Amino acid sequence: MRQSPPPKTYRVKSFGCQMNVYDGERMAELLAEKGIAPARDGDEADLVVLNTCHIREKAVQKVYSDIGRLVKAGEEAGRTPMIAVAGCVAQAEGEEIMARAPAVSMVVGPQAYHRLPEMIERAAEGERSTDTDMPAIAKFDALPERRRVAPGAFLTVQEGCDKFCTYCVVPYTRGAEISRPFRDLVAEAQRLVEAGAREITLLGQNVNAWSGEDNADRAVGLDGLIRELAKLPELFRIRYTTSHPADVTDGLIAAHGDVEKLMPYLHLPVQSGSDRVLKAMNRSHTAESYLRLLDRFREARPDIALSGDFIVGFPGETDEEFEETLKLVDEVRYAAAFSFKFSARPGTPAATMENQVAPEVMDERLQRLQAALDRHRLSFNQASVGKRCQVLVERRGKLPAQWLGKSPWLQSVHFSGPEAKDTAIGDIVRVMLAEAGPNSLSGRLLQSAHA
Ligand code: 5AD
Ligand code: SF4
Repeated sequence: MRQSPPPKTYRVKSFGCQMNVYDGERMAELLAEKGIAPARDGDEADLVVLNTCHIREKAVQKVYSDIGRLVKAGEEAGRTPMIAVAGCVAQAEGEEIMARAPAVSMVVGPQAYHRLPEMIERAAEGERSTDTDMPAIAKFDALPERRRVAPGAFLTVQEGCDKFCTYCVVPYTRGAEISRPFRDLVAEAQRLVEAGAREITLLGQNVNAWSGEDNADRAVGLDGLIRELAKLPELFRIRYTTSHPADVTDGLIAAHGDVEKLMPYLHLPVQSGSDRVLKAMNRSHTAESYLRLLDRFREARPDIALSGDFIVGFPGETDEEFEETLKLVDEVRYAAAFSFKFSARPGTPAATMENQVAPEVMDERLQRLQAALDRHRLSFNQASVGKRCQVLVERRGKLPAQWLGKSPWLQSVHFSGPEAKDTAIGDIVRVMLAEAGPNSLSGRLLQSAHA
């Protein structure tokens, strides 16, 4: 590898989940602190960080095609950027990337990216390096403070997964479940609010497995953390994602009933409506136990919007078993959902199970499932028409005096109105929801600023 001048500009490209988005933002802050500036739109960057996702096959192929594109563009421009591969593909396939893609200077795992600056220095000397260690807490301690954030900010409270669902690579790429300490999180939330956050989404692969000790050294779960954060005066909204049914506690359900700042939204993946498939997936719930859990959330917070993840075509899934998933979807009436075709991930037990489902069967099932989920999402949005609700203003719309924000139920809402000129990003305004589409609602501003 040739020596190259230290990079002056960077671009971080994040794929996959919100945790990756969060990691990408933190990497950007780290680079900025080291005097490397974000590349302007349209400009080539001296350093490109591909912050990758390993959850499904397509995501991995994308990394190699992105590297190929960067190399080709670099050859044409006579200057190839320094390339770093970060994220879960880096963790899982670091050695292979180093062998297959000589243009890559650095491979850095999700728990080691605080060491990027040293790796960049080495890359400038012409030395390639890989760091896929997993000292998760050290990373958070080493990252710089956050100075300016969007009104809707993310805060990683928990990482890793011990559940070992048979299809999933996360336990291998993100490691064992760890919880960041209570005090660190309260302090970081405080700083986020000072930096402009009005809503904080607590992130974790199994966020509701978070546990810690509060200021009085009492053992607390996620609900204890939520209750503490709700005391921050300038923080108006709290969300959390992604939860696992096995880690739902009475306290968390109760918090949805009595913590006003905890938004009426729950992302609780189910994956399948068939008990046989759920067992083969090593999910620790049945369709029935999942539904009863949702009943309890609805009892605590009747207007709660529900969201889930689904996999179609898990090995051995029969037509009847897929129908059970559709039945569950109709029973829950999800407000939002993510659905995927099963992707055999190397090293996971499901990858080598017998009776892999044919791709065309998966295609057909995914289409039917998504049609049902779309129908429920539209009905949920239509049922919101006529409601007055608070909207957190996130950005300007395309039209003059038009704004975009989020309802308490995580719907995108655009609105304009006579007073909309006085509105600003980060305000909480009152809006009357007037019209619903599948992906967003439009509304009329009723009252401006911190209604
Ligand atoms: N194939 C398809 N979907 C998967 N997911 C995780 N692993 C796989 C896989 N091998 C989905 C699950 C999970 C979401 C983040 O991604 O639905 O909840
Ligand atoms: Fe993967 Fe299951 Fe862990 Fe979720 S709970 S990250 S699907 S192993």
